[in-house]
Amino acid sequence: MAQAQWTAVDDYITDLFVPPDSSLDETLRVSAAAGLPPHNVSPNQGKLLQLLAQIQGARTVLEIGTLGGYSTIWLARALPTNGRLITLEADPKHAEVARANIARAGLSAVVDLRLGHALSTLSQLACEGREPFDLIFIDADKPNNPDYFAWALKLSRPGSLIIADNVVRNGEVINATSSDPSVQGVRRFNELIAADPRVSATAIQTVGSKGYDGFAIALVKESVTTSA
Ligand code: SAH
Ligand code: DHB
Ligand code: MG
Repeated sequence: MAQAQWTAVDDYITDLFVPPDSSLDETLRVSAAAGLPPHNVSPNQGKLLQLLAQIQGARTVLEIGTLGGYSTIWLARALPTNGRLITLEADPKHAEVARANIARAGLSAVVDLRLGHALSTLSQLACEGREPFDLIFIDADKPNNPDYFAWALKLSRPGSLIIADNVVRNGEVINATSSDPSVQGVRRFNELIAADPRVSATAIQTVGSKGYDGFAIALVKESVTTSA
């Protein structure tokens, strides 16, 4: 019952706020046809990510976990003409599908997709001496979320926004003794962002077409001496 209603309301919201878009719609269709798992953010969540990037005034975005490029396209479209999005993906098949989807959306010049385990590509990225990212979206393998948070802090500046998907995991996040490494990764991640004096953070539960999950959001503070 609950899931059917969440999906129906998500359909209602999507019909209202997310008009059909051939690039985004094709991205989901092609990704499913290629056998990619349906782990993309939902349309209204994609729109939320785009709005957050716009509110942030982001020019540079780092995404960890590309899949077929659905969230990538939402975020890349939030950027100004000189904007840049780097997205990290470990699976060559996902990367290939994403590259085609990003090209179809006309975003190949904006998006730099890097194939490899994110812990490797992040350490390479850190050696490049590029400017800090304005927004970082963490959405890959959840057991590594604590490490991704550490990298996000290294690659950010005061005022940067760090967003993580899937921090509630159908409510399993409160199961301290869970044997699921993803749940434990998310629990550790939440504890880290809650306790780190360099960020001000919270988490929000979500229900919808993707079930019951949540987002965490952390703002890198201007000064560690202030509370917000
Ligand atoms: N952000 C996407 C969904 C990402 S799903 C969207 O909302 O549209 C998670 C992705 O992370 C998968 O494609 C998976 O292959 C990738 N992934 C898993 N472990 C990874 C790792 N260690 N490094 C980089 N990518 C990884
Ligand atoms: C999974 C990963 C995701 O990023 C997501 O949004 C949903 C599910 C997963 O690995 O199960
Ligand atoms: Mg996700």
